[in-house]
Amino acid sequence: MPSQITLLNGPNLNLLGQRQPRIYGAETLADVEGACAARAAELGLTVDCHQSNHEGDLIDLIHAARNGAAGIVINAGAYTHTSVAILDALNAFDGPVIEVHISNVHAREALRHHSHISARADAVIVGCGTQGYLFALDRMATLLG
Ligand code: DQA
Repeated sequence: MPSQITLLNGPNLNLLGQRQPRIYGAETLADVEGACAARAAELGLTVDCHQSNHEGDLIDLIHAARNGAAGIVINAGAYTHTSVAILDALNAFDGPVIEVHISNVHAREALRHHSHISARADAVIVGCGTQGYLFALDRMATLLG
């Protein structure tokens, strides 16, 4: 059985391709999820993709990942900077966690410089555009190998 990776995208990432394309690029979330599924297959992994605009839903999805997912790749959007509850949920997950940000949050407003999730993350990928999700899967394969 290939290892399953839960890929979580948080608030406003459903608008990828339409939202501030100079910052977040032209690819849609469906494009990103399709590319991730293809890369995962090359790596001998599968991805289970979810997006939610709601903090509690993301927490429920992290809890669900405890039953069967080998790792989590997460772009929690703005909740990255505010949510201790998402950090707590990730701390209850045993496998590798990789945090992704499409933009270079450190080159943006100060409010984006702190991440609660980084305290738990095994790797953090920022500023690589949507390619960062693919890098996260590559790293996940290494960590799980
Ligand atoms: C983001 C960066 C966050 O600061 C922002 O709130 C997002 C997207 C990124 O992928 O660059 O929604 O996580």
